[in-house]
Amino acid sequence: MKKINAVITGVGGYIPPDILDNFELSRMVDTSDEWIMQRIGIKERRILKEKGKATAHMGTKAVKELLKKTNTNPEDVDFLICGTITPDMPFPAVAQIVCDKAGLHNAFGYDLNAACSGFLFALETGRRFIESGAYKKVVVLGADMMSSVTNYEDRTTCPLFGDAAAAVLLEPSSGECGVLDSIMGVDGSGAKHLHMVAGGSLHPASHETIDKKQHFVFQEGQAVFKFAVSKMADVSVEIMKRNNLTHDDIAFLVPHQANLRIIEATARRMGINREQVMINIDRFGNTTAATIPLCLWDFEHHLKKGDNLILTSFGAGFTWGSVYIKWAYDGKKVSGKK
Ligand code: UT7
Repeated sequence: MKKINAVITGVGGYIPPDILDNFELSRMVDTSDEWIMQRIGIKERRILKEKGKATAHMGTKAVKELLKKTNTNPEDVDFLICGTITPDMPFPAVAQIVCDKAGLHNAFGYDLNAACSGFLFALETGRRFIESGAYKKVVVLGADMMSSVTNYEDRTTCPLFGDAAAAVLLEPSSGECGVLDSIMGVDGSGAKHLHMVAGGSLHPASHETIDKKQHFVFQEGQAVFKFAVSKMADVSVEIMKRNNLTHDDIAFLVPHQANLRIIEATARRMGINREQVMINIDRFGNTTAATIPLCLWDFEHHLKKGDNLILTSFGAGFTWGSVYIKWAYDGKKVSGKK
């Protein structure tokens, strides 16, 4: 029997309209555009300011766009998985709210918590459901409203994050395109370097957790930086090697957008030139589970059938991964961008 591949047949995305740039940030904390550009590479990020709207709102917008672009009847979707660490509430899941709001009435779905690797872990899950033959239309969504867990009095974290959502549609194919290989990893001992202390079962919300500002991202930047570069590069080099790919074979590296210096160091270790790397961190910052599908959405018009892509991420947990995809369609025809 011929192997079924899970193929990405479309991309949808949503970025909120409000922009927080470095000049505005430098009025909020002791920082500067120069420092942020030199050390991180972010110029501006999007912030969801609409009252009563949160992650599921952005996810719904991204999924609706995806279904429209791919001419997919929402009722035909079997399964939706959402990578997120900023659900609207502890329960129900973002996936369930999005299924309702986007009209996926015949789908089931759930959220997956793997921080910045949320999209890749979700893609790995969705891919296997397609390959098994169980489902025919799977939506993989990455959505995070990082502004809801960012302390805008802490200059070491507040320049980093932004809000966004983006999604892909997976369908079966017996051709040579699709999600062809993956390597995933976790190391829970890394939790001490990057976490949010309160709001879970260990430290439920209390006056004390609020006074101590424990409902915000805590990060030891330098420690995370070192792990991020080595893990993303290690798994990406390994996936290239075991698929007999050299840097010339790669059309695009699609890295998690946490820091331009991390992206450049990863690309260097893979022997990949800057023109082969999808970078939009300057405009959107680190949108956690959304960065990778947001890159695919942003650069869709550059993608051609047969292009080899390496997607790679590193995030809290620690979590990391690398995925090899052979792209299945001409992005120019559908993206609306030039
Ligand atoms: O997506 C999840 C995974 N996360 C990551 O991959 C993030 C990894 N880490 C990083 O990207 C970087 O470590 C940061 C961008 C977070 C920080 O950059 P860094 O080059 O590692 O800076 P640092 O923490 O070593 O700080 C250097 C100096 C310090 O001052 P002193 O102690 O040398 O006087 C900081 O207080 O820079 C200072 N600093 C700032 N100065 C101006 C820290 N943040 C700022 C700021 N503006 N926003």
